[in-house]
Amino acid sequence: MSNNGTQEHIEVFVDGQAVQVPKGINAIEAAAIAGKEIPHYCYHPKLTVVGNCRMCLMELGNPMRDRQTGDPILEEDGSPKIGWIPKPVIGCSTNVAPGMHIKTESQLVKDCREGVMEFLLVNHPLDCPICDQAGECTLQEYAMDYGRGYSRYEERKNVKPKRSRLGPRVTLDDERCVLCSRCIRFSNEIADEDVLGFIDRGSFSTLTCYPGRELDHNYSLNTVDICPVGALTSTDFRFRMRVWFLKETVSICTESSIGSNTLVSSREGKIYRITPRRNDEVNDTWMTDSGRELYKQVEAETRLKSFQIEGSSADAIAAAKEAGNLLYAGKSAVVASTHQSVEELFLTRKIAETLKTKPHLVRHWDSGDGLLLSEDRTPNTRGTLLTGVSDQLPAKDLSPLAKQIDSGEVDTLLVINEDVSTAGLSRDQLTKIKVIYIGTQSNGTSDQANVLLPSLTVFEKNGSFINLNFRLQKFQQAVPGPAGLLPDILLLGQILATLTEEETSTSISTVWGSLSKEVPAFADISFANIPSEGIQIGGSAFAQLPFPETKSLKFDPEAAAEPVTA
Ligand code: SF4
Ligand code: FES
Repeated sequence: MSNNGTQEHIEVFVDGQAVQVPKGINAIEAAAIAGKEIPHYCYHPKLTVVGNCRMCLMELGNPMRDRQTGDPILEEDGSPKIGWIPKPVIGCSTNVAPGMHIKTESQLVKDCREGVMEFLLVNHPLDCPICDQAGECTLQEYAMDYGRGYSRYEERKNVKPKRSRLGPRVTLDDERCVLCSRCIRFSNEIADEDVLGFIDRGSFSTLTCYPGRELDHNYSLNTVDICPVGALTSTDFRFRMRVWFLKETVSICTESSIGSNTLVSSREGKIYRITPRRNDEVNDTWMTDSGRELYKQVEAETRLKSFQIEGSSADAIAAAKEAGNLLYAGKSAVVASTHQSVEELFLTRKIAETLKTKPHLVRHWDSGDGLLLSEDRTPNTRGTLLTGVSDQLPAKDLSPLAKQIDSGEVDTLLVINEDVSTAGLSRDQLTKIKVIYIGTQSNGTSDQANVLLPSLTVFEKNGSFINLNFRLQKFQQAVPGPAGLLPDILLLGQILATLTEEETSTSISTVWGSLSKEVPAFADISFANIPSEGIQIGGSAFAQLPFPETKSLKFDPEAAAEPVTA
């Protein structure tokens, strides 16, 4: 970094092409900036460099200097004379220096890559047609791009353990392992669970867990993501779908306020897996195993699928209008949720304002893990603050609301995505009032609902959340919802229209039109121009609130509490 906080750049030459690159990066990253690929297995940008696969061999030269005077040595034409290192060097452990020259396409480099590939494939079972990694296997891709195309090996291949259970979610095929050690380093350096290691020597080296241990930490599936070959596979996903059939949609993990960036992989309306999406401001390239399971709520048996008024099936719009009428006629209160998107919260606030009430919120706090699972187990508490739904953090329970129901102050309740029956309201209290429930799963509240409005999961709609660092991030629809269900913003928009007796069209873009006008922090933002990596929102106005989050991968509560200086 320079003194003014900007990244310093230096000039290097990749295959003769001058390119400006950030100081301190390695030759693999520098070549990528120049549009050149240096193939690699063991190097991973978020792990320490070990240099054990040798796939990134390249030729390296530096401007020569006179040993006595230190002056640059020049060619006849005045250009710097380059001293080429006589042997190939690995790119992963070579940091760039001013004037450095890198060759990625010379005959020597080509021969090196062919040799490395040939060694790596000596004991490999070459079972690509039945391998689950096909389609995203760098061994397969590099074999095609940089391999010799044939093998000179005539001996019998080593046989190693197949389909070994490494842990509850990870299966290992040891024969395919190229001993890059990424999985070992990840467990050790990121997950802080030193559970994997190599045993035996030479071509008998084998990956395994330490005796009596399992790869069972909540980040185990990241080893599958970073395994460059088909050795580590997800027990849940393996053999369920060829990856080239999968459509990838950007999304956000709703497990906690971290808001890990994700990719949802689906085919023909069915989700098959969730994997992390790189965002160096949020989650690097990692996510929790538990966050990957959340898509299972889409097809859960508890899923609500039919609109109902007093227990009878109803049309979606009729049910939303009935909800509006009940709220209009009653002494109404609203229970909003920190699971709602920014857009849904904004409409919820509008409904509450029309009803002259303040939405109640209930907290979902638990212990964090200091990495990518924070204490606030909902994705959008900051969204409730920015949209004006609340100026306080959610309450421990709904006891103030319970008192209002008991006193007759409230006789109609709109509940969105919360189970109030587990948050301080008794069954008796719910039976003596009118309950309107908007949510995805059945629970003690939906059982008591006079009007039931099933809604869509995060995988079936568009929207945005604000994470613990006040980063606005959007998620997009990966799969269609159950037939007949409508996005929450349409249901809320219809309720609002019934309350105000004004027909309005509600869409993500119209909601953002209002949000950007009414909320200063959202000025000049539209849903379409929120970048896929998110956008930082000013949150200093809420710095004094006692947020529950402690330090995690990209969050430091002390830094967050510091006043923002210009
Ligand atoms: S299992 Fe995969 S990530 Fe682990 S050492 Fe082998 S090739 Fe590398
Ligand atoms: S990537 Fe450089 S040695 Fe493996």
